[in-house]
Amino acid sequence: MPDREQTVRVTLANEAYEIHVGAGLLQNIGTRIAGLTSARAVAVISDRNVASHFSDTVRRSLASAGLTILAECVIPEGEQNKSFAQIVSAYDVFLRAKIERSTPIIALGGGVIGDMTGFVAATILRGVPFVQVPTTLLAMVDASVGGKTGVNHVVGKNLIGAFHQPIAVFADPEVLRTLPRRELIGGLAECIKHEIIRDAEGFAALEKNIDATLRLDMDVLTALIAHNVQIKAKVVESDPFERGERAHLNFGHTFGHAIEKVSDFSYSHGESVALGMVAAVNLAVDLKMLESKDKDRIIALIERAGLPTSGLTLDVRAVHEAMAFDKKVKSSRIRLILPDRIGHVVIRDDVPADAVFKAIKGLR
Ligand SMILES: NC(=O)c1ccc[n+]([C@@H]2O[C@H](COP(=O)([O-])OP(=O)(O)OC[C@H]3O[C@@H](n4cnc5c(N)ncnc54)[C@H](O)[C@@H]3O)[C@@H](O)[C@H]2O)c1
Ligand SMILES: [Zn+2]
Repeated sequence: MPDREQTVRVTLANEAYEIHVGAGLLQNIGTRIAGLTSARAVAVISDRNVASHFSDTVRRSLASAGLTILAECVIPEGEQNKSFAQIVSAYDVFLRAKIERSTPIIALGGGVIGDMTGFVAATILRGVPFVQVPTTLLAMVDASVGGKTGVNHVVGKNLIGAFHQPIAVFADPEVLRTLPRRELIGGLAECIKHEIIRDAEGFAALEKNIDATLRLDMDVLTALIAHNVQIKAKVVESDPFERGERAHLNFGHTFGHAIEKVSDFSYSHGESVALGMVAAVNLAVDLKMLESKDKDRIIALIERAGLPTSGLTLDVRAVHEAMAFDKKVKSSRIRLILPDRIGHVVIRDDVPADAVFKAIKGLR
């Protein structure tokens, strides 16, 4: 076991599991999984990129722990493959290989693989165990925590899914060395979001450590990931079915989803959320909820992370209109998560439309 491993325990109504964060964990993934199950075979879902980097390591580690791979399903990478066609191909592979109720499925990949594997595990044979091995920063700090699984539909993203908790999560920051820079930075947008909504001290720590994070300092990354997992886990524990407080996680996302959509996804999710957080903090200052100096710190950190804070080239009206169609909008009012200080947010559904418009315009 690597010596600097950190563990976060997630407890939901009738399930509890651990999220382990540590550099080098992947090397021992076989032993770790063998310790969780009496099954002697596992199934694996991954994508082509991830498999090309890590499949051999995982295979070797599973074999040395006495676990056989019942079947491995490697799908093409990318959000466009988070589809029913790929889910069905996984069902085919696993059912033909005679997967059993006790066979764990390992999700080896980013959020796309985690969400799809979770859905397959929730539904195949009416539910089998699954283990998350997230390989992007976003998947480590966000997608692998909370038990939401999903598949895209042509009508929209994540419209079909189920809640299904993994039996464990193993996040090894070493795997981030091969992650494209833009993906790493995109994950940082969610980390910044977590600190803003919950933790002023964590925000200050991230200000101090942002350069080391970008240099992939493993100790700093381990601490950052574990801390962010803890924040998300606490929010989810307090609201497992997304009825209240979990909405805080949408900070920056109501603006962000609209930017993503109107840009036809040329702004990545992380970039869109970064711009969305900037719009939200400007709006909060305009509404006299947030002090200017806090806004300045937030925007400075987003910028130092390598994320955009201005230069939006999209039509302001189009973004404004797209916000009204966000699926998290209750009735026709735009519901926004706005900070009143670093580390704390409130839900507002009374913000005048012209103030929202001005906040988007301010991103240009
Ligand atoms: N379930 C949830 O609560 C939740 C929360 C947030 C996001 N999500 C979902 O997560 C998805 C986005 O996840 P993502 O950003 O991880 O994207 P992703 O899974 O598409 O991964 C991004 C890219 O990086 C590649 N990659 C992954 N790990 C790598 C590594 N270590 N080295 C080299 N390349 C690697 C992938 O092949 C892919 O091309 C979306 O579908 C979103 O809906 C779910
Ligand atoms: Zn997000």
